[in-house]
Amino acid sequence: MALTIGVDVGGTKVAAGVVDDHGMILEKVRRPTPSTNPKETAEVIAEVVDLLKGKFEEVSAVGLGTAGFVDETRSTVLFAPNLAWRDEPIKQKVEEQVGLPVVVENDANATAWGEARFGAGRGEDFLVLITLGTGIGCGIIINGELYRGRFGIGAEAGHFRVVPNGRRCGCGNRGCWEQYASGNALVHEARELARVSPAMAGRLLELGDGSPEGISGPEITEAAREGDKAALECFRTVAQWTGQGLADLAAILDPGAFIIGGGLSDAGDLLLDPVRAAFGDALTGRGHRPVADIRIAELGSAAGIVGAADLART
Ligand code: BGC
Ligand code: NA
Ligand code: ZN
Repeated sequence: MALTIGVDVGGTKVAAGVVDDHGMILEKVRRPTPSTNPKETAEVIAEVVDLLKGKFEEVSAVGLGTAGFVDETRSTVLFAPNLAWRDEPIKQKVEEQVGLPVVVENDANATAWGEARFGAGRGEDFLVLITLGTGIGCGIIINGELYRGRFGIGAEAGHFRVVPNGRRCGCGNRGCWEQYASGNALVHEARELARVSPAMAGRLLELGDGSPEGISGPEITEAAREGDKAALECFRTVAQWTGQGLADLAAILDPGAFIIGGGLSDAGDLLLDPVRAAFGDALTGRGHRPVADIRIAELGSAAGIVGAADLART
């Protein structure tokens, strides 16, 4: 049995697991991500890897999934719109500390690979996964293979510009899709609504700390589940942008399925129904073409660990 370690390096937590070649996680650990200091983050990664390695001697390699633009040699994070990493040689740093081969992958690419092999994308050779969280992550599988692009940094669909001169984005541009269709975008909608129409946003304000800034993602989902009109309106707005973006991706990539993961996908059908409707309304050639299925991811937060671990084998 070949064992590898997968590490999901997120904005708030570093989650790692020992994974076998059937995609089963045998043991898992997590730590908070230290502030914005890249050096400390590398140390936390090394610490969790050492811990797991100590329990499973046969571990042969490590896969790191991290937000941002990872270079073609799978070694360096060139740039991460929502993290402090710039030209961060993370492979080398972690290898020096743990003494195992390390490969670095974009977080959403790792998640897409995990879902394609072991989750909602099993059996589908053409698929697009998006994660809706702080930003939008995207991973593309073409003909059964992960698509990385010429320089390793393809599939950055979150930075597809959907609004001319729109909201500012961490990537340096304005109007990027992730400013309108991510978990953060949902929070943006809810806070704006609470500022402009506090009476309408009563339930949202109550679930938070009473101020618009106190409203966060899980509370919006909770309110929407209760049938709260304001929360449902926020979902509709974000779902509209999401479905339209998927329709544009379908025009280019023609996948058999789209998989939606990330924090926002916890909302399930509350998100999926209006996304499918917006997708159907925006799809080019609608009524005269096969339509890709849109599904919620199956593996949840484990997909990033499992995918990164599996990609470390090859
Ligand atoms: C980054 C991607 C990342 C995604 C999700 C985007 O802002 O550009 O590299 O995959 O966020 O973390
Ligand atoms: Na990606
Ligand atoms: Zn952007």
